[in-house]
Amino acid sequence: MSNNRLHHAFLGAVMLFAGQSAFAQSAAPQLGKNTIPEVIKAMTLEEKAQLVVGAGFNMPGMGNTGTGVGQTQDRVAGAAGTTHGIVRLGIPSLVTSDGPAGVRIDSTRKGQPGKTFYATAWPVATLLASSWDTTLVKSVGAAFGTEVKEYGIDIILGPGMNIHRNPLGGRNFEYYSEDPLVTGKMAAAIVNGIQSDGVGTSIKHFAANNQETDRASVNTIASERALREIYLRGFEIAVKESQPWTVMSSYNLINGTYTSENPDLLTAVLRNDWGFKGFVMTDWFGGKDAVAQMKAGNNLLMPGTVPQSNAIVAAVKSGQLSEKVLDDNVAGILNIILRSPSFKGYKYSDQPDLKKDAQISRTAAAQGMVLLKNEGQALPILSSHNVALFGNYGYNLIAGGTGSGDVNKAYKITLVQGLTNAGYTVDNDLQAAYTNSLSDYTAKHPKKGFIQEFLNPTPPAPEYTLDKDVISKKAASTDIAIIVIGRNAGEGRDRKVDDDYELTAAEQQTVKDVADAYHAQHKKVIVVLNIGGVIDVMPWRDSADAILLAWQPGLEGGNAMADVLSGKVNPSGKLATTFPAAYADVPSAKTFPGKEFPEKATNGFMGKSIPAEVTYEDGIYVGYRYYNTFNVKPAYEFGYGLSYTSFDYANLKLSAQSFNSKLTATVTITNTGKVAGKEVVQLYLSAPVNKLDKPAEELKSFGKTDLLQPGQSQTLSFTLTPADLASFNTASSSWIADAGKYTVKIGASSTNIKQTAAFNLAKDVVVQKVSKVLGPQVEINELKGK
Ligand code: BGC
Repeated sequence: MSNNRLHHAFLGAVMLFAGQSAFAQSAAPQLGKNTIPEVIKAMTLEEKAQLVVGAGFNMPGMGNTGTGVGQTQDRVAGAAGTTHGIVRLGIPSLVTSDGPAGVRIDSTRKGQPGKTFYATAWPVATLLASSWDTTLVKSVGAAFGTEVKEYGIDIILGPGMNIHRNPLGGRNFEYYSEDPLVTGKMAAAIVNGIQSDGVGTSIKHFAANNQETDRASVNTIASERALREIYLRGFEIAVKESQPWTVMSSYNLINGTYTSENPDLLTAVLRNDWGFKGFVMTDWFGGKDAVAQMKAGNNLLMPGTVPQSNAIVAAVKSGQLSEKVLDDNVAGILNIILRSPSFKGYKYSDQPDLKKDAQISRTAAAQGMVLLKNEGQALPILSSHNVALFGNYGYNLIAGGTGSGDVNKAYKITLVQGLTNAGYTVDNDLQAAYTNSLSDYTAKHPKKGFIQEFLNPTPPAPEYTLDKDVISKKAASTDIAIIVIGRNAGEGRDRKVDDDYELTAAEQQTVKDVADAYHAQHKKVIVVLNIGGVIDVMPWRDSADAILLAWQPGLEGGNAMADVLSGKVNPSGKLATTFPAAYADVPSAKTFPGKEFPEKATNGFMGKSIPAEVTYEDGIYVGYRYYNTFNVKPAYEFGYGLSYTSFDYANLKLSAQSFNSKLTATVTITNTGKVAGKEVVQLYLSAPVNKLDKPAEELKSFGKTDLLQPGQSQTLSFTLTPADLASFNTASSSWIADAGKYTVKIGASSTNIKQTAAFNLAKDVVVQKVSKVLGPQVEINELKGK
């Protein structure tokens, strides 16, 4: 019997055995059985307006902002939001949850005593990017996706992929890099990993959300070229290489329009220019005008409020919003619902394999740590060494940042535990002194609820300090000192230069006193940085023999740090973001975070809103594009990182002297040292300068060797396509590869270039003509290269 006839026979049976209303029920088209247009045709206007508006969010003291139908708490406690289900049409509600560094849900639930719902805290995005290993990041994504699925979540609200425009960005830890290629490749890798489990992602925050100050009201003023080449490019790569199920529009405005209300951004660029097939959701309570959001192609308004649905219904009734536009937004959501675990009725276990995932997290963490300094082979630390561990964060790991990027994990391994697990003897007196001081502080400053912490975060415990003579005694009784410096930040605010970007006076004193005492005894001092964003290193780095940048390494952080410090893992991470010599050197230092207009403040849904604007005068010269072009020497340049071994670069060969549709570069890397190691190899390109100014060099490809044994070689191969040669030409709204001479530079970092070779492009190539949109309405005094 054909499907159709079977269907009719089934309906006939229903007619015989059921009453009229039951018949009407089953006769309604069903998602999955009927086509999407048939389902949409059967929806009432009110149902459509519900589907495009989330089911709401429980605000402390305010109750649920939406209808609460299918509300979050009914599905997965602590998830960020749900969509409305429409039972009569077979449309389930979807569950969305934060965030980029792990599934963010409540760890316990009412009525389920003794049961826990912990998730793995993965290393933060900045660390993952520092691995420069897309295979590794994809494998993290695959494990992450399984947790998403096993906890009954359809879409994870990540990865975050805004650009590190300024080191003070409060959410930089959630983002990958100052470079759009690294950002796009890392995001695509994790999305491909997560989505291989049959769950969705939401790449965020689209776009130019590069600061937290006034995040919901700031107007980002930027040129079309800076947007296309820097701030949109990573999203473009991720869309083209991984088709994320969803994109999350950001809170800010770009050149005068909220991103969530901008058809140029969400339709012309995202869908028409790039071919995005999923749906767009707002950031939580983002934008102002629900009708404008619908017109822009922002399919779903999250977490959803009743006034938003009402406004949409009223606008269709008054003719202000065409029902066709609403239908298109509905269709975009239904398309994704069809692929979701909720639609498929997936029976999730609530029991992901956290033990296995902890090991994946530990491996990834060690692969993304960056060895910044290693004088006199201070590292690795001999196993017989007796270690003195200084610094609050040696005893209190920062696994990841705060806010929606935080994860409720079962435990975290501190460095003192990691060192002990690795077999080191760690000084007991110091351990007792630091842990007592920390527990004292915690007792006096108990952690508040999420919202209270968000509005008014508890300051970190001040650095515990020791007298010089105590330190001297320890220098005599132990073999080596490790000092841990920690930094945390997150959603809602940016960092400050004083006492955050820069070390506090107490931290500086500790580094100095420990270095003086240990160096007097000819013993080494190691500094470990447990930080989520770039800090000042110049004033103190000479005091350290070795510096290990451990970033925020997830729940197994202390074990992963010990893996690298002991030499069990040879460090192979490199910086995906520059450490400048001074904050004032940062190209956006003068314009970050912009200016406020308090006289124009309004009272919005989320409290007082102060209009603000930030002008990207740094243009395309972000990060190394600036430092290299303008010859400003950073403390540690983009792409930099040491190893316990050394590598030789040789035999760079190009497949042709003249570029013709594509070109391959090969280079041979040899481990010339005494221990096995991996090397990150970077391909930069210097493009001809005629019509446009160009950065001195731009990263166009990268790769990482396998673990090479001493003496072993590997040849890496990189392919360049016309798109890799192109710059964005504003006058013609096209990506154009300019005719002329290009130099391929194979580097161990952005300034440590090991091999070069040149090729020629005979004629200009117009790679893609794109929509003429997003231009600024005001003149920008933009930085221009040579
Ligand atoms: C954040 C998003 C997050 C959302 C849901 C917002 O405040 O900006 O990154 O996904 O909340 O929690």
